[in-house]
Amino acid sequence: MCGIFGLITKEKDLPVARLIREGLERLEYRGYDSAGIAMVNKGHIEVRKKAGRIADINKDGWLDSTPGTFGVAHTRWATHGKPVYNNAHPHVDCTGKIALVHNGIIENYQDLRKELAMRGHAFQSDTDTEVFPHLIEEFMGKGFDLKDSVMEAVKRCKGAYGIVVIHADNPDYMVVARKESPLVIGIIPGKTTFCASDIPAFLPLTREAIVLDDNEIAVLRPGEVEIYRVKSGERIQNNHFQVNYSIDAAQKVLDGKAYKWFMHKELHEVPRKIRDQMSMTQDRLDSFAQAILDADHVFITAAGTAFYAALAGKFQMTRFGGPYIQAILCSEFIDAVPEMKPNSLVIAVSQSGETADTIEAVRYAREKFGAKICSIVNVVGSSLTRYSDEVIITTAGPEIAVASQKAYCTQITAMSLVALRIAELSHKYDPAQIEAFRKALLDTADVIDHLIIEEGKIREIGLKIAHADNIYFLARGLGQAASLEGALKLKEIAYIHTEAYAAGESKHGPIALIEEGFPIVFVAIPDQTYDRLIGNIMEMKSRGGMIISVVADYDSKVTEISDYTIRIPIANSPEAIAMAAVPFAFVLQTMAYFIADSKGLDPDKPRNLAKSVTVK
Ligand code: G6P
Repeated sequence: MCGIFGLITKEKDLPVARLIREGLERLEYRGYDSAGIAMVNKGHIEVRKKAGRIADINKDGWLDSTPGTFGVAHTRWATHGKPVYNNAHPHVDCTGKIALVHNGIIENYQDLRKELAMRGHAFQSDTDTEVFPHLIEEFMGKGFDLKDSVMEAVKRCKGAYGIVVIHADNPDYMVVARKESPLVIGIIPGKTTFCASDIPAFLPLTREAIVLDDNEIAVLRPGEVEIYRVKSGERIQNNHFQVNYSIDAAQKVLDGKAYKWFMHKELHEVPRKIRDQMSMTQDRLDSFAQAILDADHVFITAAGTAFYAALAGKFQMTRFGGPYIQAILCSEFIDAVPEMKPNSLVIAVSQSGETADTIEAVRYAREKFGAKICSIVNVVGSSLTRYSDEVIITTAGPEIAVASQKAYCTQITAMSLVALRIAELSHKYDPAQIEAFRKALLDTADVIDHLIIEEGKIREIGLKIAHADNIYFLARGLGQAASLEGALKLKEIAYIHTEAYAAGESKHGPIALIEEGFPIVFVAIPDQTYDRLIGNIMEMKSRGGMIISVVADYDSKVTEISDYTIRIPIANSPEAIAMAAVPFAFVLQTMAYFIADSKGLDPDKPRNLAKSVTVK
């Protein structure tokens, strides 16, 4: 939540404010309530900020023309205080010499604010952030330099922060610090330094990156970075690395084709991302699968779309010889699991690796009960990777659309690979069988290629329900993960009220709402649940429900009783059916995309949502 982008350079004639605004726009998926920039300009700080989206604020180049030599910008997802001018970042101190942007939440801000107000500081906003510039101002007043003042200020703050601070009288450096909120540094050695909430934001400008760790602070000069530990003040080595993401990741372009929306482009990336995931190293799979087999109690936790991927993953891992795995939403974990037995293991699934509830759940399990943590995560170097014993990195690459989709597909692919490795290690299937399942998993990429070629058919069916007020999604077994994900996507990006229910449970309540024309989407994977699902379809149909079913291409029985079908070209084999979770979900994600687009909505930045939810 909230995006930060800063730039400091030695190069003359760079359009600094414009480059900062462009970098910030690449982070707008993190929040888009208000935005602003602060630049150091000849001994004073120039701040321009407003409520609204960056493109509107920058109409007539208002942000781009901010005078100054270097600076920082922020796009906000409101937590403390409404999205109005005063609450927009950057925030300044009483002297107007210090400007600061912040991503995260300062939990003790009320106490700090009272304390600072008593000492005469005047606050302009309702934010938690504003205590920072005033604290820094006080330490500078005591004779500390900017870096040491930031260091002392962060020691006073409880909670999570990624901050960037500039000072009017320090014409050649800015200071950044982080704890539990992401902040990465990009560098063109000797020339320019960037800081941002994620790597793709500076990817068009440099591929050389440095990840700042929790409780570290850095001084950024043009093309130079010094990193220090907050607690000891000791200087530490920079770990530079080359980013190998494609530059297209930050643009709406794929294979030379320009897309209207990131979501559409990212859905089209799914087949290649599945193929990339399939080529992950055996070592990673081995230690991950072995850890699951060695544990006495296994939990899986996540939020949002990642939780639905976790449900499919848990299903596969248990089915292929793993233990029973208890799935718990990360926001419920601490309350639902007051005690953990020795030798417990938690699998955490997350695209960003920064979701506050997921991090809290794993830290609780690890620090309080010594549980082992195995993570499936998309962002290298993210917080979750640091709290994990075993990590599988998904190969989705940067995902810009706020509602996660290609990450979901790679998460399930990764967990299906773990499941097959569990099957191998536990000797519950013979090697030829396992190979056939693995081939079927790889074939899902081809299946999705076909679905993309024929996506017009998915759109056509989507348009039939685009104006419904309520839609049910029903499924059984493995199909439930797809059904939950399809329902969530429609809610998130098309603002349609949906409910996903276990089909067998639908007669215990939901059926009361069914009347002529009520749309119900059935995910009809032709597995052992298929005949029972037909019973549930008939119950809805006989009460007038409009039946939209997702079926295998060769399906006839469900097709006969449905009003519309979306057909998935999977092979008629037990292996293809067992591995069908991703294609069945993919069509529902695609349908949600087309419905949102047809309604003139922005599927990349749905209202009130943020991609990386770093608040609890
Ligand atoms: C937000 C995003 C969702 C995502 C969820 C979990 O709500 O909008 O798309 O599924 O967070 O995020 P994570 O990064 O942990 O997968």
